[in-house]
Order: sequence, then C-alpha cells, then structure tokens
Amino acid sequence: MNDLKLVLIGPPGSGKGTQASRLKEKFGIPHVSSGDVLRSEVARGTDFGKQIKGFMDRGEIGPVELITSVVLDFIDRECPNGFLLDGFPRTLYQARKLDETRGVTAALYISVPEDIIVKRITGRRTCKACGAIFHVLTSPPKKEGICDACGGELMRRSDDNEETALNRIRVYKNETVPVLDFYREKGLLRTIDGDGTTDEIFSRIIEAIGQ
Ligand code: AP5
Ligand code: MG
Repeated sequence: MNDLKLVLIGPPGSGKGTQASRLKEKFGIPHVSSGDVLRSEVARGTDFGKQIKGFMDRGEIGPVELITSVVLDFIDRECPNGFLLDGFPRTLYQARKLDETRGVTAALYISVPEDIIVKRITGRRTCKACGAIFHVLTSPPKKEGICDACGGELMRRSDDNEETALNRIRVYKNETVPVLDFYREKGLLRTIDGDGTTDEIFSRIIEAIGQ
C-alpha cells in the first residue's frame, strides 16, 4: 500500500494535516506538508527561510519557482515510492511540475464552507516539537498547552490570526482552485465533504480512494 501517491487539496483549515496523519498511520506512506517544510526553514533561519518568512506571515505564496524546487527536492529525498502531499501542489505551475516528474493516484479535495474554516483556523494549536494538531474546542489536548502525543509545548501558528486567514482563503481561491480543474480534467479528482467529525471525513476519504 505504500506506493499510493495522494495529494490533499483544500482551503486553509480544511483538515489536510489532520487527515494526512490518519492516512499516514493507516497506509504507512510518507506525509509531506509543504507548509511544514517551509516553516522549518523559517525556524532554522536559513537564507531561504528569511526570504519566505514575510510571504508566509501574510498568507501569500512567495517565490513560486524556488519554493517548488525546494519541495520537489524534499519529495525526491524523502519519498522513494508513495507519498501523501498536503498543501502542494498549490498553483497550476506546481501541479504541472509535479505531473512532469511523478504521477498521482488521486487528488483528494476536502471541501469545507468558509465560516467553518475560519473557526477551525483561529482555534488551532500545533505542537512545536512533533507538529501534532489540536483545536481548543473540537479536539483539545488533555492538559492545556501540552501535546498529548509527545509532551511538547503547543503554540498558535503565526499565520493563524483572522486577518491572515482571510488572505489565505483569498489566495486559495485565486491560485489553488484552478488546480482542482487540472485534476478533474485528468479524472483524478475525488471530492470529499469535509464538514463532519474527523472520523466521518476519514471514512469518506477511504471510500473515495477505494481502499
Ligand atoms: P499550509 O501550512 O499548507 O497551510 P494551509 O493550506 O493554510 O492549511 P492549514 O495547515 O492551515 O490547514 P489544514 O487543512 O492542514 O487543517 P488542519 O488539519 O491543521 O501553508 C501555510 C503557508 O505556507 C501558506 O500560506 C504559504 O505562505 C506557504 N506555503 C505552503 N505550501 C506552499 C506551496 N506549495 N507553495 C508556496 N507556498 C506555500 O485543521 C485545522 C484545525 O481544524 C485544527 O485545529 C484541527 O484540529 C481542526 N479540525 C480538523 N478537522 C476537523 C473536523 N473535522 N472537525 C472539527 N475540527 C477539525
Ligand atoms: Mg496543514
């Protein structure tokens, strides 16, 4: 099962990271979140990280060719067989580049109404150490501020304020929605109703990929 090549597409806060960790557990395929790859560059203070920080804080896409080559190199290094991509491809340019080098088994589009995603984003907490995802209302940690999985400190992402979240939604509509058509035309798009509990959405994904 570890040669599945899946991409998860959806607006900010739609649950890509949450579902990716469940899929990774079930199928043992490596999960690549382009946002996590880029946040780690920013946290390490690399030249590339310094170049992209402002774009990320504003919820913009930034230097797309450079970012695409960094993420594709990461995928090449970490995913010799299958992969589970989350947040990539995010533009038509990225979808075409991925298509040139590797096919995908399915593109899973998690569809969630806008009023729900803003609530999900503003209540999210993420573990600094292992990246586990929580929500203050819908999936709170057992002990406030502490990760259930590894005991690490929970934080709020710097782009998880309402103003940046609304800009991320705008960018998603302009840049990422065309990627849905790209996969639809190839017959690879599977639309998942992303309104429901995480268990319900996970079952819908499993059904959609026929596993
Ligand atoms: P990225 O990190 O990809 O952020 P995003 O696309 O905005 O998506 P999020 O991570 O915010 O949401 P998610 O869908 O993973 O939801 P989650 O599972 O956490 O990108 C960040 C930035 O990096 C971009 O703005 C850009 O600047 C840059 N970037 C990234 N990729 C790039 C690329 N390819 N090219 C160029 N730039 C790039 O869930 C959200 C919350 O909801 C959590 O609290 C969770 O607990 C909760 N939740 C999840 N599911 C449910 C449910 N069913 N019911 C209730 N609550 C739920
Ligand atoms: Mg995410």
